[in-house]
Amino acid sequence: MSKEVSKQRNVLRDEALYILKTNSRDNRYTVPSDRLYPYQWNWDSGFIALGIATYDFDRAVAELESLMEGQWHNGMVPHIVFHEFEEHYAPGPLDWQVPTGTTTKADVCTSGITQPPIMGSVLWRLYERCDNRDDYQHRFNQLYTQIKAYHDWFMGRRTSAPSHDLVKCLHPWESGMDNLPNWDKLVDEVPRGDTSQFRRKDLKGDNASQRPHDSDYQAYMSLVYHYRAIGYDSVDLLPQAHFKVYDLVLNSLLLRSAHDMALLAQDIKPEHGVYWQGQIQTLTQGLQKLWSEEHHAFLSDNAVDSTPLLPITCASFLPLFARAANESQAQQLADLYRDWRDVYPYSVPTTDPRSSKFEMERYWRGPIWINTNWMIAEGFKAYGFDDIAEEIRNDSRALIEQHGFYEYFTPNGAKGLGASQFSWSAALALYWLF
Ligand code: GLC
Repeated sequence: MSKEVSKQRNVLRDEALYILKTNSRDNRYTVPSDRLYPYQWNWDSGFIALGIATYDFDRAVAELESLMEGQWHNGMVPHIVFHEFEEHYAPGPLDWQVPTGTTTKADVCTSGITQPPIMGSVLWRLYERCDNRDDYQHRFNQLYTQIKAYHDWFMGRRTSAPSHDLVKCLHPWESGMDNLPNWDKLVDEVPRGDTSQFRRKDLKGDNASQRPHDSDYQAYMSLVYHYRAIGYDSVDLLPQAHFKVYDLVLNSLLLRSAHDMALLAQDIKPEHGVYWQGQIQTLTQGLQKLWSEEHHAFLSDNAVDSTPLLPITCASFLPLFARAANESQAQQLADLYRDWRDVYPYSVPTTDPRSSKFEMERYWRGPIWINTNWMIAEGFKAYGFDDIAEEIRNDSRALIEQHGFYEYFTPNGAKGLGASQFSWSAALALYWLF
């Protein structure tokens, strides 16, 4: 590495550190972006903890602990924890209206749905890099127990016999990939409730062309109000839900979490080995059912009528992260990856760039995200495609070098978009890129 490059990387490392410190609140949790997302988000905090662990281990553990303050008695870890009221974001606690007494910590407000469960994988990584485990034993045990309860909730409340092998996603926000083109038809069909009192606050400046459409937001909020009326924790929620998908993101991350929690259990709870092996087997079998011979890729599935949801997106690569693919599927995904890379010089776009649904600048419909890039690169590496993993890493690095720590980037390399000082881009840069 030339002196010039290493100097530039030091500058970027300092900048990433500055972003994480600026977005840190009370020295225990981190907002994804000061401007756009002023609360604590579930999977964001997982990626963020990995970055923080590179310079302050104790604070990284606190990031997970602060998220778990929002855990519900039923085990669910919500997608947003509202530690402090912030008027610049909607939907806030008053829209969700989660009943008091729902969370394990009495005075914490949360949203009423979940997000992709990366926490178990993060906890394992923190445990692996900890050089004074005895000092942290109590905190690791506590987090392990909380994350296992989260898995219990997923398997107990989000699966249904007889197809007991995958969890259902009940809202596009639960997938973490809000406006994926796969959800279009289902989102169109969501019965609209009265959302007239709801005002979007994510449209700041001239960014409307990059954000979900108003009609999407009406569907998102109609789902929220419908679930609020049924009761987020009610057994009637699953049968009456207006959006039900076997989503690749939730299921892949849950499976990967089960693998990582199994490794942790070997050290701290060996008697749970059978539990984890059972879950790994169940979810692997489930994800295998989402492989499409016709499209040579994994596809999320409409849980109501078992139709595969096209187009192929970056989520189609996540079963590699989960270790759910076989060798032949991994090879086909590597071919697919290379076809995409021939279209644009940077990887990995959210949507197949040859699809008519691809939109260069709109959120989860085209742009590149650093968190999905990290998981996809990890997945390819595990299957021996080191060249692809390295290419994705180089692309991610180049995009940040050219534009900064944006929320997402155009696959033609021209722009960084969304929030400019985005926490998980900074965190994964520290953990993975620089
Ligand atoms: C958006 C993203 C979601 C993320 C959140 C906070 O809603 O779609 O994945 O967790 O912002 O960054």
